[in-house]
Amino acid sequence: MPEESWTILKLLHWTTDYFKKNKVAEPRTSAEVLLAHLLSEDRLFLYLNYDRPMEATELATFRTFVKRRLEGEPNQYITGMQEFWSLPFRVNPDVLIPRPETEVLLETVLQFLGSPETEVRVLDLGTGSGAIAVALAREFDLIRIVATDSSMAAVKLAQENASLNQVESKIHFVCADMFSAFSHLPRKFSVVATNPPYVSQAEFSKLSREIRDYEPRHALDGGPDGLAAIRHIIEEAPAVLSQGGALIMEMGADQAESVSTLVRDSQRYESYRIIKDYSGLDRVLIAVNK
Ligand SMILES: C[S@@+](CC[C@H](N)C(=O)[O-])C[C@H]1O[C@@H](n2cnc3c(N)ncnc32)[C@H](O)[C@@H]1O
Repeated sequence: MPEESWTILKLLHWTTDYFKKNKVAEPRTSAEVLLAHLLSEDRLFLYLNYDRPMEATELATFRTFVKRRLEGEPNQYITGMQEFWSLPFRVNPDVLIPRPETEVLLETVLQFLGSPETEVRVLDLGTGSGAIAVALAREFDLIRIVATDSSMAAVKLAQENASLNQVESKIHFVCADMFSAFSHLPRKFSVVATNPPYVSQAEFSKLSREIRDYEPRHALDGGPDGLAAIRHIIEEAPAVLSQGGALIMEMGADQAESVSTLVRDSQRYESYRIIKDYSGLDRVLIAVNK
């Protein structure tokens, strides 16, 4: 970035071009998100203040953002924020950045639970940033959620996100491996909602560097065939589900057949269905417990 006087507009043009030349995805959006974050404003502010001069200290910080983005770091880890279900979430490299596909899982849970007249209990397994637990807690008055993750750092951040969205009283956070903390619970869950790691070894090497080098491997890696966690969950979920309760689980677009076979072979479920995401790809399993 040359040493000269800069305005918001000039800086946006320069950064967009620089990102384009260096093959950064969505160059203009990326430049806007980073500049808006730097100024603690929203993107509309930039459009309304194109002629605002940039100060030397602002430029110095912005240069570090541009460098990080060029190295492949996702915008969300630079800004520390991602929106999910129209709610703000803090994110850092300890947690997966919540994805729009996961909103399909949320919609499936909402449909399954309907308008409960008594309290429902939901287990969010592998909560990460807390996206699923927090969004559900915002949707229902009569809900108790247990949100677990094997990563203590993720559990801490999910707790922060529950506070940020004022739902901490509805969610109990636990750091535990899979179902280890719940198999002997006297009360069961109406829903196990989970977005487990489901990327296979072969797919992992093909992921973009933004994902592969920055997002936590334990959030993505589903073992050699991508089904290690999924297999475990399909097998173990019935033990913590109430009768007629549902396992609602996100999966990879090419995993519907394997997942369906695992559900049928387990002989633990009454019925199941695969739901597509907004791109028409198989994305969510709903399997009702016997
Ligand atoms: C794909 S991320 C999903 C995060 C979040 N629920 C979302 O949808 O954005 C999977 C999460 O599962 C957690 N996880 C991986 N293996 C686990 C295990 N054995 N027990 C509990 N959580 C696990 C990871 O730490 C990660 O946070």
